[in-house]
Amino acid sequence: DLPARVRIHEVGARDGLQNEKSAVPTQIKAEFIRRLAGAGLTTIEATSFVHPKWVPQLADAEELFPLVSGLDVALPVLVPNQRGLDRALALGADRLAVFASATESFAKANLNRTLDESLAVFEPVVRRAKDEGAHVRGYVSMCFGDPWEGAVPLHQVARVCTALRDMGCDELSLGDTIGVATPGHVLELLSLLNEEGVPTNEIGVHFHDTYGQALSNTLAALQHGVTTVDASAGGLGGCPYAKSATGNLATEDLVWMLHGLGIETGVDLGRLTATSVWMAAHLDRPSPSRTVRALSHK
Ligand code: HMG
Ligand code: MG
Repeated sequence: DLPARVRIHEVGARDGLQNEKSAVPTQIKAEFIRRLAGAGLTTIEATSFVHPKWVPQLADAEELFPLVSGLDVALPVLVPNQRGLDRALALGADRLAVFASATESFAKANLNRTLDESLAVFEPVVRRAKDEGAHVRGYVSMCFGDPWEGAVPLHQVARVCTALRDMGCDELSLGDTIGVATPGHVLELLSLLNEEGVPTNEIGVHFHDTYGQALSNTLAALQHGVTTVDASAGGLGGCPYAKSATGNLATEDLVWMLHGLGIETGVDLGRLTATSVWMAAHLDRPSPSRTVRALSHK
């Protein structure tokens, strides 16, 4: 059985733009987010309050967030620690995301901590965010494979998921950071998480499309009952701290499939495609999304 409606968690402005070689001007980012909202997306990850030296592309978070915070959409932001939380709360952010790793190698590369140290950093961050009334998402990266460690044991992923949930995260997002997952693997992980007491309605999926599997993986997750899917407009994205990560599942490719299946998204595919074409012109490079290319070359 497929769901009647899917909530798309749009990550283009964060996951997408964090990976661009040059920083996109703040005003262009704000206009991008406005256009995404205009296309009917209701959850638009806006930026990250991380160290500006680690991700210079998002160093303008303080300037950007107030430009878009008046929009009538949810605007989650990433926070890696208390300092990031301070910065986000000072601007009134009420949807926050911490980001853990299923592997030691990526915890070190992305957060400069061991896995357990990073969880210890997140614990008070999540507690304080919840006390402030915020909604908190817990990302888990490298759920399906790691560029340094190779295969990632499912129980290792489940341990991190359970730890984030026990801290109080409202939802999890299972990251296939380097895009190596295939549908059977996705179903195995979802089943294990259910066995470990994590309900499917608290799980979102976050597929990068390196091997062209993101849409197949998403369909498998939908068949399992998942209704929150991360995607980036035009297929922007990657992670500066993970070798071989390419863009996320393109939101247009996702919407094409969902609408074809009769699943509601609230998204106007024409307006969304126009937004990605507009952004591609700013980035001076065509969108990798097949759907964007098909719809814009008519
Ligand atoms: P660190 O160097 O260990 O930092 O970096 P620290 O805790 O030792 O602090 C050093 C200095 O940085 C201090 O300043 C802090 O105040 C400052 P000093 O006292 O020396 O003057 N500092 C900060 N400044 C501003 N904002 C902050 C902040 N934190 C500390 N938040 C740190 C540790 C976590 C900060 C660093 O590793 C970092 O910023 N990492 C972020 C990496 C990142 O953003 N990666 C991309 C997002 S994850 C992703 O893309 C995957 C995902 O899409 C899912 C998937 O695909 O799998 C979500
Ligand atoms: Mg990602």
